Amino acid sequence: MAAPAPILSADDPSFADLLAARPHLSVHPFDGLMMEDVPLARVAAEVDTPSWVYSARAMRDAYRRFAAAFADAGLDASIHYAMKANDHLAVASLFAREGAGADVVSEGELLRALAAGIPAGRIVFSGVGKSVAALRLALGHGIMQLNVESAEELEIISAVAVEMGRTATIALRINPDVDAGTHAKITTGKAENKFGIPFADAAALYARAASLPGIDPAGIALHIGSQITALAPYRAAYARAAELVRHLRAQGLTVRRVDGGGGIGIAYRDELSITPAAFAGAVEATLGALGVPVMFEPGRSLVGPAGVLLASVVLTKPSGNHRFVILDAAMNDLVRPSMYDAWHGILPVAASAFHGPLAPADVVGPVCETGDTFTRGRELPPLGPGDRVVLLDTGAYGAVMSSTYNARPLAAEVMVDGSDYAVIRPRQAVEALWAHETVPGFVTG
Ligand code: LLP
Repeated sequence: MAAPAPILSADDPSFADLLAARPHLSVHPFDGLMMEDVPLARVAAEVDTPSWVYSARAMRDAYRRFAAAFADAGLDASIHYAMKANDHLAVASLFAREGAGADVVSEGELLRALAAGIPAGRIVFSGVGKSVAALRLALGHGIMQLNVESAEELEIISAVAVEMGRTATIALRINPDVDAGTHAKITTGKAENKFGIPFADAAALYARAASLPGIDPAGIALHIGSQITALAPYRAAYARAAELVRHLRAQGLTVRRVDGGGGIGIAYRDELSITPAAFAGAVEATLGALGVPVMFEPGRSLVGPAGVLLASVVLTKPSGNHRFVILDAAMNDLVRPSMYDAWHGILPVAASAFHGPLAPADVVGPVCETGDTFTRGRELPPLGPGDRVVLLDTGAYGAVMSSTYNARPLAAEVMVDGSDYAVIRPRQAVEALWAHETVPGFVTG
């Protein structure tokens, strides 16, 4: 295989640019990189590395900005935090306190959302393959809505609801066949993707839903992908949704709400991010005239920018005209760079490092795969063993996607609020990795 092309870093944002766009991070002249009022060097010294560190303020601010933008646009909108982005109880509890609902995709996420205090009446359940056990759990708790992804699933839900003596409130998740313009692995609204009901089949299936026992069709849902950085795909998808709602109403069917999904992108590098006000404006323009409550399922935009992965340099290794900076964090912790070629900002933690001369570095983890590379050719200051760095914007799809590959225990998680911080999950003990493993007699003899 040919060597991968170097990523040109000439257009990378500077440290000052990265900091300016992330108000929960700042550099103190002595204490170095701070999250809110807590020096990250202190967290590293006390909790060790690698550790995920989240800013409670950044999460609350992100939620409040969305809620305010919907209110300003005159929309009756509810926010259902997509648990998959970061399902930690402390994170979900923070949003519960803000009045959020949840979007869940498994029994585990449903139970986590409930454990965090999110009322069942504000929980929506999405996913192409909900198990019968999961459906029973959801119906038993009387959740707000099941987003149905196929004709087959609709029949199963009807049967389960009848058997339980319950009524399932459902929305049909339609596939609007719109290209969200995002990474192929996280685009969900094109006809060839596994998600949703083909647009052409939706009206007939909605009528079928209205006739089935145990089913209360409340509306339609859609979710076209993740890390979407333009409004045009939303406008196109929501216009199709509005068209469908009008068609259903003309057939005499009732549509009480529309769930617009999540997917709002964030500025990892130099992407144009969608502001809450612009998003709310596009929603108003496309769905506003329907006169129904609208629901959204943001994940990344609420938690992504709030988190960093705090790591230490194990050693540096010169190689030709560049250097490898080997961290104690790896692809098992943060998989996004190796899985999606994702770009994450990297900042040093020491105050002096913000003024040092820059030189290109390949920042990698210690896992035994070349894919364990966070970035190549990144302009960074001199770094040596024990120096700390952070990988930015790792509050979403970070800890939740970790594995213990290479027998590396799960990293600690920390939440910062003002000048306070708390360890919200201790570093996993290495013995915990095999605590539930058994060696059968036929092996030991
Ligand atoms: N609703 C549904 C039905 C979803 O499938 C998703 C995400 C969301 C809401 C939340 O989307 P968000 O607002 O977070 O974009 N692991 C990938 C992202 C996968 C997203 C899957 N679905 C990544 O690291 O980029």
